[in-house]
Amino acid sequence: CGIVGYIGKQSAAPIILEGLRRLEYRGYDSAGMSVLNGHGLEVRKKKGKIEEGLGKLLKTNLLLGQVGVGHTRWATHGEPSDENSHPHFDHSGKISVVHNGVVENYDRLKDRHLKAGHTFQSSTDTEVLAHLIGEHYERIKRCETEQATQNGDGLHPLTKAVTEALREVIGTYGIAVICADYPEVIVGARRGSPLIVGIGDGEHFLASDATAIALHTRQVIYLNDYDVVTLRADRFAVTSLGSDIARVQISQLEFSPEQAEKGEFEHFMLKEIFEQPRTVANAMRGRIDLEEGTAKFGGLNMSVAELRAIDQIVITACGTSWHAALVGEYLFEELAHIPVEVEYASEFRYRNAPIEKNTLVLAITQSGETADTLASLRETKRRGHKVLAICNVVGSTIAREADGGIYLHAGPEIGVASTKAFTSQVTVLSLLALFMGRIRMLSLHRGEKILKALQAVPDQMERMLEQNGEIRRIAQRFASVRNFFFLGRQYNFPVALEGALKLKEISYIHAEGYPAAEMKHGPIALIDDQTPSVVIIPSDAMYEKTLSNLEVVRARKGPVIAIATEGNEALAKQVDEIIYLPQTLEAVFPLLAVVPLQLLAYHVAVARGCDVDKPRNLAKSVTVE
Ligand code: G6P
Repeated sequence: CGIVGYIGKQSAAPIILEGLRRLEYRGYDSAGMSVLNGHGLEVRKKKGKIEEGLGKLLKTNLLLGQVGVGHTRWATHGEPSDENSHPHFDHSGKISVVHNGVVENYDRLKDRHLKAGHTFQSSTDTEVLAHLIGEHYERIKRCETEQATQNGDGLHPLTKAVTEALREVIGTYGIAVICADYPEVIVGARRGSPLIVGIGDGEHFLASDATAIALHTRQVIYLNDYDVVTLRADRFAVTSLGSDIARVQISQLEFSPEQAEKGEFEHFMLKEIFEQPRTVANAMRGRIDLEEGTAKFGGLNMSVAELRAIDQIVITACGTSWHAALVGEYLFEELAHIPVEVEYASEFRYRNAPIEKNTLVLAITQSGETADTLASLRETKRRGHKVLAICNVVGSTIAREADGGIYLHAGPEIGVASTKAFTSQVTVLSLLALFMGRIRMLSLHRGEKILKALQAVPDQMERMLEQNGEIRRIAQRFASVRNFFFLGRQYNFPVALEGALKLKEISYIHAEGYPAAEMKHGPIALIDDQTPSVVIIPSDAMYEKTLSNLEVVRARKGPVIAIATEGNEALAKQVDEIIYLPQTLEAVFPLLAVVPLQLLAYHVAVARGCDVDKPRNLAKSVTVE
């Protein structure tokens, strides 16, 4: 979901609409906005993607006014529909609310309002929140008239109403609220769902993601949990629900608005796949120490002695980041001999998994906002352990709450299916594993070899990407099948999982990633001449073993697309299609092997007419549990 708010001298609707377009990748089953003007509160909302829904509606039904809030939604409570779209209103219709997150105690609150005679237009938890704010607002206004004092404690009445309402809420929220009685303010608040204030000249912005406002300002404030912000055109004030003092720090946005545009590419996903030679180089920049055969990091906030004492690593993550974590497991175990547990953050947060004193906990996340990963981080810290984050979005909640970490510097990732974040995560994990190895037993010679192999990756990726046309042809050949397998061993098993996930996410073809040798224990039953398998089979120590797994598939007439090492001409005769990758070390191969799988998924999805950047039912950053 996404939130955009504007207050200033310009017309709010076009700014909010453009911001929502830029946020659409985070949720897109409906969109809406409310604007305040001389006629009070006006609203437009519509089910469907922004272009076909809200965008069209605004062309025929203009919204005029210089204060407004807008929202793009990814359904959690209530199906996608015009009624369930945000903004929602309180009982009086004066207060308009947009909301990301989940109000967990909405049913109890709703009962209370129903008993008080309120009626509801939607089945969302957000509408309950709007009624709750309205209830407090009416009470505050009544008190004010009775006591004839205004803002006794200095808070704006709308801020006060929002603050008191939020004290009753269990759950998560990023909200923006406007009220017809006060066209000079927007109130925002966050808990568990990101919210950013953009500072302009005589104008202010509110957004759940910096990409929405990067066109207008580079100066931002990342609000903290429990912050409540009161925005006016010329000033703002931040208060806190949790304490007397709110910490406010103004930051500069790292990326330019152009980085969040498609440029010459048809889709963000394709653009991001092609960016990888550069983003992988960015992940390594300034971190390589060739002389010592190691890596260096600025923000770990841990001494070498502390890091040397680590005897176990636990990595928590979700989705594609979880796959990167699995590659990390192989890397840390092989290069540094440290045992690694990789945990789904959604499971880990509710388990009482033993974490020993010398365990290093890593949280991997592109967005830095994924609710489950954030919860695991908080739970781990609560138990007194340090957590390092490997994260892309500077200033995100996880980046700020972790004890230290490493940024990916991959630039904004807009395509819902993660691509460049994965290769940057694996690059950073390779460097970290190398570093952890070098402060233990790993030799200088091996350290240098790994660094050289990593440094060659950007150029090798460039060469790989030249095969785009060939991969498109292969994708078109198999675009109509119903099932796909992705098989790999060792370092390439997580790559197989990632290849399958990419295909599922954007083409809706059922796909499974499997360790190649595990196929014979069940899934092989599914193989037939209509079920292709992508087999990742580099010319490495596992080659012969993987080849026998491949033959098992062939024997069941399963078509095979091999991802092999350049020079392996013999294999071409045994498979239906072959994609060659440059020679590299086993530990570095995943970085190259994932690229053709990303392209394959992309071209299959395009061939099937799917909306690659906005796949159905998915959101870029899942800030709900
Ligand atoms: C969502 C996205 C995935 C992503 C996952 C974890 O499900 O659709 O692409 O891998 O969240 O996101 P994170 O930002 O924590 O890496």
